[in-house]
Amino acid sequence: MPESKGTIMKILIIHGPNLNMLGHRDKSQYGNLTLDKLNALLRKEAGALNIELSIYQFNSEEKIIRTLQRQRNRCDAVILNPAAYTHYSYAIRDTIELLPVPVVEVHLSNIYEREDFRRISVTKDVCLHQIYGKKEQSYVEALHFLYDHLREKS
Ligand code: DQA
Repeated sequence: MPESKGTIMKILIIHGPNLNMLGHRDKSQYGNLTLDKLNALLRKEAGALNIELSIYQFNSEEKIIRTLQRQRNRCDAVILNPAAYTHYSYAIRDTIELLPVPVVEVHLSNIYEREDFRRISVTKDVCLHQIYGKKEQSYVEALHFLYDHLREKS
């Protein structure tokens, strides 16, 4: 892990489709924060851990895939909320599988206690870990999980 060599840990965060609409979506599932506020919270948490974040939000599968491919050697780990793509995108699953870095799948809501179609994650098995149901804390927990994981590996 680069931190031990005097460089900073780099984590890529990708928010999938409709997460730009946080604040306007069902608050009982997704919480009260807008995406800007969620990102500000994550930058603050990351700063305290000396982690550098690159954060993107995309509504299209193609942009998620292209960014994962392009960034695969430029980050130490990925936090990905594939949003609705979680449930059916074998293309994103295949991209995660080819990445040389660990990926944590996150969800704001508890996908296992909602509609049946949300109970299936086609991406989960190729991720190191999955965190769900804790609203913005799902992302915060993912940051801490990866911080510990990368430090252990170094
Ligand atoms: C989500 C859950 C998905 O089922 C849904 O399509 C989303 C957000 C979550 O963060 O809880 O858009 O990934």
